[in-house]
Amino acid sequence: MAEAENPAQGAQMEFRGRMSYGDYLHLEKVLDAQEPLSTAHDELLFIIQHQTSELWMKLAIHEIRSAISAIRGDDLRPAFKMLTRVARIFEQLNNAWDVLRTMTPSEYTQFRGALGQSSGFQSYQYRAIEFLAGNRNLAMLKPHAHRPEILSALEDILASPSLYDEAIRLLARNGFDVGAEAERTDWRGARPENEQVLAAWRDIYREPGRYWALYELAEKLVDFEDYFRRWRFNHVTTVERIIGLKRGTGGTSGVSYLRKMLEVELFPELWKVRTEL
Ligand code: HEM
Repeated sequence: MAEAENPAQGAQMEFRGRMSYGDYLHLEKVLDAQEPLSTAHDELLFIIQHQTSELWMKLAIHEIRSAISAIRGDDLRPAFKMLTRVARIFEQLNNAWDVLRTMTPSEYTQFRGALGQSSGFQSYQYRAIEFLAGNRNLAMLKPHAHRPEILSALEDILASPSLYDEAIRLLARNGFDVGAEAERTDWRGARPENEQVLAAWRDIYREPGRYWALYELAEKLVDFEDYFRRWRFNHVTTVERIIGLKRGTGGTSGVSYLRKMLEVELFPELWKVRTEL
């Protein structure tokens, strides 16, 4: 082909001593990290599905952390953008179930035994997302007791206000009476639902024009939780489709445990307020 017709003309072809695409992305590390333990064809799908989910969770954690500090600094517009991105990440993870669903129970049983007791239940990034958002179930720390660095990273999250705690503190800074929440200094563990917080959201939803920024924040939070719930629902449906009602490799009752988790609410007053409008 004459040089003038070459569509790749001008492309850098010589990378000795220069950073290439693969160098920048550390692709060798990423693409060397799939080590199936069986000869089953579908195990690679299973590994990549989990690893890519963990990568997206890493980005979600990065965005939620920044959203928390933006709200703390009363800088709401960047927080809105980050929360929208978190919702989109979960939408992406929701679409990813379509790929995993192509694996049948017959195919999964070929390598399930190789997983031992390992399970997404031990995903510390998933717990980090729950803890950062505001679902602080301390029992979920236990599977990480043997990994002090993971435990201390999760404890660090629990030592500061969650995303929802920061939203409530913002309500207080905007003159709303948030009752006992105003005196809170201990962020570890679950927060009790609070009538004053519910009343504050009610005022905001009744007069969006007057409280537009808080109203927009509320809707960004609800949007995030909406996509997060869909992830849980898609997970439990996929799990039932693949393992039926068998116990999980992580030791829980499996589908019935996951169905129970569908009831967990990250931002409870924001869901309750809808009934009152
Ligand atoms: C064949 C596919 C899958 C099956 C059969 C499955 C099964 C299960 C089961 C039974 C549980 C309950 C805990 C246990 O006893 O093990 C669980 C929890 C969990 N799985 Fe999966 N899972 C699958 C795919 C995935 C994928 C792709 C992810 C993405 C990271 C994932 C993430 C999680 C998380 C985060 C939990 C903890 C949920 C909670 O505690 O609320 N799972 N899984």
